[in-house]
Amino acid sequence: MTQPHPMFEPARAPREQQRQRVLMCAPDDFDVRYVINPWMEHQIGRTTHSLARDQWQNLRALVAQSAEVELVPPAAGLPDMVFAANAGFVLGDIAVVSRFRAEERRPEEPLFRAFFAARGFQIAPWPEAIPFEGAGDALIDRGADVVWCGHGMRSADEAPATLETIIGRRVIGLRLVDPRFYHLDTCFCPLAGGWLMYYPPAFDAASRAAIEKIVPPGKRLEIDEADAMRFACNAVDLAESVAMNDASPQLQKRLRDAGFAPVLAPLSEFMKAGGAAKCLTLKLSER
Ligand code: ARG
Repeated sequence: MTQPHPMFEPARAPREQQRQRVLMCAPDDFDVRYVINPWMEHQIGRTTHSLARDQWQNLRALVAQSAEVELVPPAAGLPDMVFAANAGFVLGDIAVVSRFRAEERRPEEPLFRAFFAARGFQIAPWPEAIPFEGAGDALIDRGADVVWCGHGMRSADEAPATLETIIGRRVIGLRLVDPRFYHLDTCFCPLAGGWLMYYPPAFDAASRAAIEKIVPPGKRLEIDEADAMRFACNAVDLAESVAMNDASPQLQKRLRDAGFAPVLAPLSEFMKAGGAAKCLTLKLSER
């Protein structure tokens, strides 16, 4: 039998069903009140609340163009809860709730757990003694069937193997070596079609080799230190755009040449806490 003409192919699922779901948490109590990464040094009490709110709303509107935004209520006294990427790691209907390295963020754990449970996710058990900071460190590749897991700064060295056992998918550990890039999502961004934007010096040699083994040279967008410091890698890959705090014109052009549509969403207030676009979001619909 001949293949049906594309015109007669069954209709795609309604747009609503295909739309991604993205979790965010409003910055009601966001500020820098302690120092747990180098970006927070000398920034205590220095964020401007109204600007943070405007920047967050702007990012939310951008995400809402391509995805359903879900909100978890912020809690007073938890200034970093706005960084929803650290709620946990989601795959299908399984959620692995983060186990924060810093005491300051541990009270977020039950709140994120309650959110996942209320949304019908199965909560996977995670050993308390092993720090793991969710989608800040565990990122699904968009080409190969692997999950990348940063470790050595926040998530423990045992985190990649533990995650692999739980999700039953190949997890490749990547050792982070530059404290400015303390979460994998600050220096490494898998993009649709198997592309990867990353800052190689943030990794040890073995990890760089592991990346090069999986991602073909033509799909590797290696960025320089200046773009890394703008948190260009901390980007949200959406259906219609790639949202990021900032990127040089050269990097934006390279992204456009690769078929992406970079959109800048300035997030200066959140950079003071060591986070930007990707940190403020968590994709909830992952297969
Ligand atoms: N101040 C927060 C922390 O140090 C920032 C978290 C950024 N999140 C991320 N996914 N990179 O934990």
